[in-house]
Amino acid sequence: MQKKPILLTGASGNLGRMLAKELSAAGYELRLTDIIPFPDPLPPQARFVKADLNEALAIVRQAEGCSTILHFGGVSVERPFEEIIGPNLRGLYHIYEAARREGARVVFASSNHAIGFHERVTGNEAKLDHDCAFRPDGYYGLSKVYGELMGRLYWDKHGVENVNIRIGSSFPKPVNARMLSTWLSYADLARLVIRCIEAEKVGHAVIWGASRNPASYWGTDHRDRLGWQPQDTAEDFRAEVGNIVSDDPVEERYQGGGYCSIEYSRKGGFSPRDQFELE
Ligand SMILES: NC(=O)c1ccc[n+]([C@@H]2O[C@H](COP(=O)([O-])OP(=O)(O)OC[C@H]3O[C@@H](n4cnc5c(N)ncnc54)[C@H](O)[C@@H]3O)[C@@H](O)[C@H]2O)c1
Repeated sequence: MQKKPILLTGASGNLGRMLAKELSAAGYELRLTDIIPFPDPLPPQARFVKADLNEALAIVRQAEGCSTILHFGGVSVERPFEEIIGPNLRGLYHIYEAARREGARVVFASSNHAIGFHERVTGNEAKLDHDCAFRPDGYYGLSKVYGELMGRLYWDKHGVENVNIRIGSSFPKPVNARMLSTWLSYADLARLVIRCIEAEKVGHAVIWGASRNPASYWGTDHRDRLGWQPQDTAEDFRAEVGNIVSDDPVEERYQGGGYCSIEYSRKGGFSPRDQFELE
C-alpha cells in the first residue's frame, strides 16, 4: 500500500467528502484542501488546509511529499467561461506543475461532459471507446477536455502519470432514466480511486467512470492497467427512475443530457436526426 500522503483537492465537495472518509478508512494519510472549510469532523490521519486552486504556491506546498494528487476541486457544473478559467484551467496547470515537481501521479475527475454531444447509444449501436472524439457540451465540459489533454502533455513530455476518470453521474443513487446509463456508485468510485493510487504503472489512462450498467453508452478504456471492475449496477433502480425523462428533445438525444440544452442555439433549434448529417 502507498505509504506517502495523498493530496485530495475539492475535499469539501460531495465526492471529496465521500473519498476523504473512504480513503481514511482504508488507511491512507490524507492532505485535504478546498476553497471552503471542510464540513465534517476530520478523519483519522488527515489534515485540512484551505487553499485556492488559482494560487500556485499554495498548491505546490500542499503537494509536497505526496505520491498522488486526487484532483476533484474546481467548478463542477456549467458556468460562464470567465468563472471556469481560474479554478479549472489555471488551477489544473498548478496541479500538474506540482505533480511534476514531486514526481506524483495525478488522478483527474474528468466528466462525461467532455464528450456530451455524442448521441446516446441505443442497444444496436457501437458503444463509445475512450479514444472517441471529444465533443464537449459547454465551457465546463471543455475545461475537462483541457484537463485530459494536459495529462496527455505531461505524460508525453515529463513522464507525469495520470488517470482521467470520465465520471458519468456519481450520486448516492440514480435519479432519472439517463442515469441508468451514466450512474457511478460511490463505492465503485472509491474502489476505482484506490486502484488509481495503487496500480503499478498507469501512463496516461482514461477510464469511463460508470458502474456495471447494462444501459451504458461506453465501451473500452484502460481499466486493465488498474485492475478495476465496477461491482454495482444502476439497473437495480430501473423500476424507480426508468420513466423519469424530460420533454426536451436535445437533452434526451445526447449523452450529456441537460447540459447540452443550456443556451442551445443551433440554427433552427432542434432538428430531426437526419438533418445533421455533417458531424
Ligand atoms: N458528481 C458527479 O456526478 C460528477 C460528474 C462528473 C465530474 N465530476 C467532477 O468531480 C469533481 C467533484 O465533483 P463534486 O460533485 O464533488 O462537485 P462539488 O462542487 O461538490 O465539489 C467541488 C469542490 O471544488 C471546490 N472548489 C471550487 N473552486 C475552487 C477553487 N478555486 N479552489 C479550491 N477549491 C475549489 C468547491 O468548493 C467544492 O467543494 C469535480 O471536478 C466535478 O467536475 C463530478
